[in-house]
Amino acid sequence: MKIAIDGPGGAGKSCLARNLAKKLGLKYVDTGALYRTIGLAAARRGIKMDDTAGIVAMLPDVDISLDYKDGRQCVFLSDEDVSDAIRTPEISLYASAVSAIPEVREFLFDLQRTLAAKGDVVMDGRDIGTVIMPDADVKIFLYASIEDRAKRRFDELTRKGMSVTYEEVLADMKKRDSQDSGRKIAPAIPAEDAVLLDNSSFADPADTFAAAIRIINEKTGASYDDVL
Ligand code: DC
Repeated sequence: MKIAIDGPGGAGKSCLARNLAKKLGLKYVDTGALYRTIGLAAARRGIKMDDTAGIVAMLPDVDISLDYKDGRQCVFLSDEDVSDAIRTPEISLYASAVSAIPEVREFLFDLQRTLAAKGDVVMDGRDIGTVIMPDADVKIFLYASIEDRAKRRFDELTRKGMSVTYEEVLADMKKRDSQDSGRKIAPAIPAEDAVLLDNSSFADPADTFAAAIRIINEKTGASYDDVL
């Protein structure tokens, strides 16, 4: 089974994808982590996020790989586990900027397609249903109002001890939304055959999970109700 989950930042894609992977026995691939790692590599080299030529010139020296520890995806930049280092607000903006560069998308394409081809996978990102796994059995486009998403991201960052304000998180999210969905290449828009799932009013991630299971049942004709 192949499940594609796309949607804007902060909608709860990774939480949903992780839960689906665990309960349905699938491999989870967080593709945003790959763009974030390129962003981190650029930031560490002091390359500005609008320096497209500098970012493209850096790519041959960037070595990214994924590994799994206790079912959790870890992303490596050369030999360093950068799974936590890529989760800062600065790197979120870098990731969004580098992801609009065609050479960067091309650079990550083979790795993602190889992972997708293995099957039994749930991948989340922006272009999974449209570009990476157009043949996915189930495509879900998960979204929520920008205020709800910013509040969730703010709670997540403050829980991790980061010092940010809700207003900063909201402003960054607006910027990322318009960059990610307004770009010419692989914009974050639903595939034609994606099911749209708005979880703005859902208080608990379990509600999003249950809604996704209903969609999966409907699309595959199977019944996965036992995992609820
Ligand atoms: O899902 P995320 O917030 O970790 O993604 C970080 C950035 O990477 C996001 O702003 C857009 C980009 N991205 C992308 O363009 N395509 C993907 N498949 C996944 C992420």
